[in-house]
Amino acid sequence: MGVQGFEIARVHRTREQARRSYDRISRWYDLVEGSWEKKLRLGGLAMLAPLPGEQVLEPGFGTGHSLEAIAAAVGEEGRVFGIELSPRMLGLAQERLEREGLALRAELSLGDAASLPFRDSKVDAVFMSFTLELFDTPEIPRVLGECRRVLRPGGRVCVVALSKAGPPRLMERLYEWGHLKWPALLDCRPIYVGHSLREAAFKVRESRLSTIWGLPVETVLAFKQETSKGE
Ligand SMILES: C[S@@+](CC[C@H](N)C(=O)[O-])C[C@H]1O[C@@H](n2cnc3c(N)ncnc32)[C@H](O)[C@@H]1O
Repeated sequence: MGVQGFEIARVHRTREQARRSYDRISRWYDLVEGSWEKKLRLGGLAMLAPLPGEQVLEPGFGTGHSLEAIAAAVGEEGRVFGIELSPRMLGLAQERLEREGLALRAELSLGDAASLPFRDSKVDAVFMSFTLELFDTPEIPRVLGECRRVLRPGGRVCVVALSKAGPPRLMERLYEWGHLKWPALLDCRPIYVGHSLREAAFKVRESRLSTIWGLPVETVLAFKQETSKGE
């Protein structure tokens, strides 16, 4: 999947390798990566704007910062569901929710975002930050298809991810080179976020392009249309 001939780098890593790698860095994740991603993650949450009473899903929730914000926003009547590959990340997120007195509003499970353990149309909204770009190119439509399946008609998804949108920049090329050379260390790589959502039959409502460390990041809000085919 590419746009105007700009190919997305492939990901050659098994689920087991990804799980081991995130288990290993879980304790340091907030220090090393969390700080520079935080502003964009918060921007994505503001774009999603979870409402009291809503049911929201976050695949790949990491140490659980966004789960905490979503649980606070949906209130006692709402729920946040999380799916995570790394048991240690799940443990840290669960501790965070318990510390903040929000655990009763959350249901966290170990699992794979490419195969969500939920019935169709279960949730009102899906949030995904710095996770979609971890999946290999053919898996991206599968993950978005799963998000779409579990969203109710009219439901929304907000994705924050490293992006290939816009002209390729030096930093992006260097980063992609690093991704190919050290796939375990630089496991994310830039993808086409808005384009991928449209290809997965979402209707894009809002899109913002930002940068971190010279790398483009797209934040996109998209909707599952009420009258989509097959519903
Ligand atoms: C780069 S971190 C981002 C964490 C969090 N979303 C944030 O913005 O801080 C990616 C997370 O996705 C999880 N992950 C990786 N592959 C996954 C999969 N196939 N299914 C569910 N979670 C996955 C990792 O364990 C990790 O916690």
